[in-house]
Amino acid sequence: MSNMPFPQQRLRRTRRTERLRGLMRETRISPDDLIYPMFVTVGEDVRNPVPSMPGIFQLSIDNAVAEAKKAYGLGIPGIMLFGIPEHKDEAASGAYDPEGIVQLAVRAIKDALPDLLVITDVCLCEYTSHGHCGVVEKDSGEILNDVSLELLARTAASQAEAGADIVAPSDMMDGRVSAIRAELDREGFENTPIMAYSAKYATTFYGPFRDAAESAPQFGDRRSYQMDPANAREALREVRLDIEEGADIVMVKPALPYLDVLYRVREAIDLPLAAYNVSGEYSMLKAAAQNGWLDERAAVLEALTSIKRAGADIILSYHAPDVARWLAENHQGS
Ligand code: PBG
Repeated sequence: MSNMPFPQQRLRRTRRTERLRGLMRETRISPDDLIYPMFVTVGEDVRNPVPSMPGIFQLSIDNAVAEAKKAYGLGIPGIMLFGIPEHKDEAASGAYDPEGIVQLAVRAIKDALPDLLVITDVCLCEYTSHGHCGVVEKDSGEILNDVSLELLARTAASQAEAGADIVAPSDMMDGRVSAIRAELDREGFENTPIMAYSAKYATTFYGPFRDAAESAPQFGDRRSYQMDPANAREALREVRLDIEEGADIVMVKPALPYLDVLYRVREAIDLPLAAYNVSGEYSMLKAAAQNGWLDERAAVLEALTSIKRAGADIILSYHAPDVARWLAENHQGS
C-alpha cells in the first residue's frame, strides 16, 4: 500500500502533456484581469523614463493616448491614471481643476477609446506642495481629515465630469468613500462606481511610485493615515467600513507582501476585490531580471498568478502590457 498514490499524486505522475496540466490548473490569469496604471504629465511628446521603474514613463497626453491604444489592443480592459500637475499648492488645486492634467487626459483617452475603462486615482498627494494625501495644518503638521474630504469629493466629481468610468480614492482619509459617494450623487454621477483603496498599507514598496508621481511627502510619513503593515484584522475593519460607506470594489495594496490579507478579505466579503501590485514589487522583479538573476517572464507570470490565487478579481500592475503580450504568445504556442 505504501506506493499507492493519492489521486492528486496519480494525476501528477501521469501528467505527460501540457494539455493535461492545463486541465488540472486551478488558477489562470488573463488580460481581462488587468488594469494598467499610467502617469500623465503636461507638455507634448513627453516621455520621461522613471529611473526606479524601468519600462515606465511619465507621458504627455498625446503619448498617453498612444500607450492606452496599445494596452487596449492587447485586450487590457482598463487603465488607472495618475497626474503630475504643473503647479502644486497647499490646497491641491490641480486635483479638482476642471482643466487639470488628469481631467484633460481622461477626456482625450475616452475620446480616442470610448470602450477602454478609465479609472482615476483620487488623492491629493501629487497636487499638494508638501506631498501629503490631505490638507495639513500649518502649526502642528497634522492632517486635517474633514477638510480633506471636501477636496477629495470635488476631485472625484471633476474626474467623473471629465468622463472617468470609475473613481478610486487612495488617500485613506476616514469617511472619504461616503463623502465622495454623496458628491457624485449630488452632481448627477449616481452610476459612477467607487473602487476604494480600502486596505492600504504604509509600506516602503511605494518608493518608486513616488519618484514617478513626484509625490514623496516633504516631511513626516503617511503612517497617520495608512495602515500598519503588522495588522491584518484591521484590514477587515477598513474594508467593511468602506463597503458600508458605499464602495463598489475594494482593494488591498500592496499585493505580494500582503497575500494573506488579500485571502482574508476574499473570505470575508463578496464584492469584487482588487489587488495593487505596486511600484516596488514591479521594480524588484525588473532589477533582478536586468541583472540576469531571474527569468522576468516566468517570475512575473508566477507572481500575478499568485495574486489571483489568493483571491483578487482585478490586478493593477505595471507589468500589464508585458503580461498580456506573453499570454497571447503562450496561447499561440499551444
Ligand atoms: C497616492 C498613491 C500611491 C500609490 C497609489 N496611489 C502612493 C502613496 O500612497 O504614497 C502607490 C502605487 C505604487 O506604489 O505603485 N496616495
